[in-house]
Amino acid sequence: MPDFDSLLFAHASRVGETLEALLGERSSGAEVMRPPRLMEAMRYSVLSGGKRIRPFFLMECARLFDVDPAVSVRAAAALECIHCYSLVHDDLPAMDDDDLRRGKPTTHVAYDEAMAILAGDGLLTMAFDIIAHPDTHPDAEVRSRLVGLFAQNAGAGGMVGGQVLDIAAESKALTEPEILQLQAMKTGALIRCACESGAILGEASPEEQAILLEYGHLAGQAFQLADDILDVTSDQQTMGKKTAKDAIAGKGTLVSLLGLDASRKRARELLEQAIATLEPFGQRASVLIDVARFTVERKN
Ligand code: IPE
Ligand code: IPE
Ligand code: MG
Ligand code: MG
Ligand code: MG
Repeated sequence: MPDFDSLLFAHASRVGETLEALLGERSSGAEVMRPPRLMEAMRYSVLSGGKRIRPFFLMECARLFDVDPAVSVRAAAALECIHCYSLVHDDLPAMDDDDLRRGKPTTHVAYDEAMAILAGDGLLTMAFDIIAHPDTHPDAEVRSRLVGLFAQNAGAGGMVGGQVLDIAAESKALTEPEILQLQAMKTGALIRCACESGAILGEASPEEQAILLEYGHLAGQAFQLADDILDVTSDQQTMGKKTAKDAIAGKGTLVSLLGLDASRKRARELLEQAIATLEPFGQRASVLIDVARFTVERKN
């Protein structure tokens, strides 16, 4: 069994190769005219490193039910397209106005704002193209469930809605339940989606699916809490993006509300809760325990 870091690297490489192939010149769709500069901006936005943690959650949840990562990688790559699109739009001047992402200029800086908006649109749309293809799963019923799940978690009731609440948090002090709701939507939704997609690909029972949904909910909460803690405690070099952004923007986060110590304690509690949900899977879920721990203990 490879150690966690090697597994994270192996899955990330597989996702990168899959995205490379899907966005490459010889990919299906290449016979239609696709503006080269748009394709270049999409590649720039998606083949730029990143932890690939959502794909990891998806592939490892699927692997609980013996789905080969060589198969689940397509759905994982589709989810990463949605995540990368969300980052490109999140960095736009109209939103967080950031010029550094994954250690490189953000897409609107490297290209221009219109191209960044359109590259994001292209990535979001491509995600559904990937999911709808029979190579993602032979059963059309499974593919259709994935399409619905991705749409719900990416859309107004998920990530996009969460981003709206997040912008509002700059001008209005939020209560703790409001912050939790915001985080569950802007970040939690795609992580829950990763875990639930793994269960769907693995044709898990409704009970198993419910466990992974709860696990994803807790891991997603822990992930955004860690991001908010790192925004205060880490630096640009380590993170590959600007830090201290939330305080400068006056953004309400759990860290600004509870302070650092209580936030760290909360993150550890979430980790313990996430691990506890996995109990019914026993030893089979050891990698999911590791990734939950990574979510909280990560340095970037
Ligand atoms: C950053 O996500 C945005 C948040 C939801 C906190 P990641 O920390 O997963 O970013 P990458 O993909 O590794 O760059
Ligand atoms: C972004 O949250 C969540 C998204 C849906 C993209 P942040 O704005 O905190 O993410 P970073 O810190 O820019 O990566
Ligand atoms: Mg933001
Ligand atoms: Mg941001
Ligand atoms: Mg942040």
